[in-house]
Amino acid sequence: MNEHLPVVTLDGPAGVGKTTLARHMAESLALAYLDTGSMFRCLALKLGPDAELLPETDLRGRCAEWTFSIMGKGRAAALYCNGRPVGDEVRAEEVGMLAARIATVPAVREVLKTAQRKMGETAPLVAEGRDMGLVVFPDAKFKFFLDATSEVRAKRRLRELEQRGEQVDPARLTEQILRRDDLDRNRVTAPLRPAEDALLVDTSRLNIDEVLAVMLRHIDEHGGARSLDCHRAAGASPVRQ
Ligand code: DC
Repeated sequence: MNEHLPVVTLDGPAGVGKTTLARHMAESLALAYLDTGSMFRCLALKLGPDAELLPETDLRGRCAEWTFSIMGKGRAAALYCNGRPVGDEVRAEEVGMLAARIATVPAVREVLKTAQRKMGETAPLVAEGRDMGLVVFPDAKFKFFLDATSEVRAKRRLRELEQRGEQVDPARLTEQILRRDDLDRNRVTAPLRPAEDALLVDTSRLNIDEVLAVMLRHIDEHGGARSLDCHRAAGASPVRQ
């Protein structure tokens, strides 16, 4: 049997609450936190609209201009791109859509997968995204796949964006979430899908604390957070790709 990597993976569709949950989980377990959606979002912003239409070699070269690192643990965890913190500007729904488009390109996924994998091999961490459990960290110690109805997800995303002071049209937001679901679930490379050994959690009727409790209980019952401790350095210094 393969040795497990001391990584907790959280996968699921847009708006399911992964980012909030992964942050809480990283805080509870005092682990580093890797937000792979923000890596795609950041690249999407740097490369600009229609980047997915560029010839593959050009795109690969442009992706290579950007390197990612993570710093800190739990609440203090942060993602850096070329040494600068990735800011809130990547959280806009339009940027999410651009990210979903470049995420369909195998060359982009490959570049980011290599970077993500290296970070996971350097320090125990919580990694969230779409293909963490199935593709990037198939040997992760704990895997979760979160889901909720598209109506619930649209409401959650609406609340999140409004709290950040963004004006959004609910109908347009629902349409964007469904469009992103379609891109994420039906792309050829690494489509959104749960790993066979992931715990599936339907969060439609649960709040953040309840989902977190389900996940932490699962970890407790399967070796506990101690099983994430290992000889690898625990991320005191920047973890670079
Ligand atoms: O999780 P998010 O909404 O921040 O992700 C933005 C987009 O990035 C998402 O629609 C698809 C893409 N993505 C991906 O394809 N694989 C990941 N591991 C993370 C994000």
